[in-house]
Amino acid sequence: MQHKTLKSPSQSTEKTHIRQLGINLNQWYTVARSTDLTTEPLAVVIWHQAIVLFRDSAGKINALEDRCPHRQVKLSHGKIKGDLIECAYHGWRLNAIGECAEVDYLAENQKLPNCKICSFPVKEQSGFIWIFPGDETKAEAINLLSLPEWDHLNYIATVAVIECQAHHSFLIENLMDMYHGHLHEDLQAWANPVLDSLTEDEHHVTALYQAESYYKIDKIWSISQLFFKSLRQLHPEPLEVSYVYPHWVSTLGNDFKIYCLVCPVSEMATRAYLIHFTSLNAFWRLHKLPVWFRRFIKDSCFGAAQKLLDGLVRQDVLMIEEEQQAFLQNSERKSYELNRALVSVQRLMRSQAENR
Ligand code: FES
Ligand SMILES: [Fe+2]
Repeated sequence: MQHKTLKSPSQSTEKTHIRQLGINLNQWYTVARSTDLTTEPLAVVIWHQAIVLFRDSAGKINALEDRCPHRQVKLSHGKIKGDLIECAYHGWRLNAIGECAEVDYLAENQKLPNCKICSFPVKEQSGFIWIFPGDETKAEAINLLSLPEWDHLNYIATVAVIECQAHHSFLIENLMDMYHGHLHEDLQAWANPVLDSLTEDEHHVTALYQAESYYKIDKIWSISQLFFKSLRQLHPEPLEVSYVYPHWVSTLGNDFKIYCLVCPVSEMATRAYLIHFTSLNAFWRLHKLPVWFRRFIKDSCFGAAQKLLDGLVRQDVLMIEEEQQAFLQNSERKSYELNRALVSVQRLMRSQAENR
């Protein structure tokens, strides 16, 4: 019988501090980009659980606990052999469901050891690798967050990786509190937000802000606004941000959509992917061109917003990590909050972690 070793601190205490809250394991989490996994095994971690990913000979991804059943070393040090993963130490080979399938030095009178490590449901969708770390019988009934813009020819994507030494609640609160545009003033991301409305249920919180945007992608050359400040002009645009547990989605007017796919690693480490899409919907002439050419434009412009995105991430991570450090130094110190969206965000985080 398999035993998953994922810890959920929230299960044990009545009222866990929000900064030490566990996660709802019965969700799909992004652990890597598709392109990160090629011909070598890849080690990832989702909420204390070390997992090794490897592709079989057909390119299909398998996810096993990153622990050889022989001597407990990491399988991710090993190699892929056909459809099996081979441990670096004594060369035992395990199959996709974590059973020992081959041992080269097995004597004639010996049988393969009857050991099995955990395997995890895994999917490859919208350019990312998604893991379901919880009860695998529930995996098919839970939807992954869809990113229709990833494959759509009218959207140009940029991806930035967020690595922060902080609890994921600090990151989500940063993403939901658009008043922190103040921090990004020099990057001109958005301006003058005012929280307009707030909706929530057991799966999501959506905050609608009235704000101003510097960018308008209504002429083909307006993509160059992403590179040149002098081409930008402030104009009103609605800014909607949603915490769709455990991920985040936002739209700024008609031209921009941003996702943050979150992978909580531990109480003090979070990995996430910020994906920015610039819309080309305004250019109807472009849509009449052959698909191969539109794909060429989409692919050649990939990363157009990289400088902006990396700059935003750098500024945010600095603040988030300082919040974490301040919490570690004095967890009793009270913070003051003016944005009611954050009360809803904490409520959702708690109910997902504790009442799943
Ligand atoms: S520890 Fe993996 S084969 Fe021995
Ligand atoms: Fe930010």
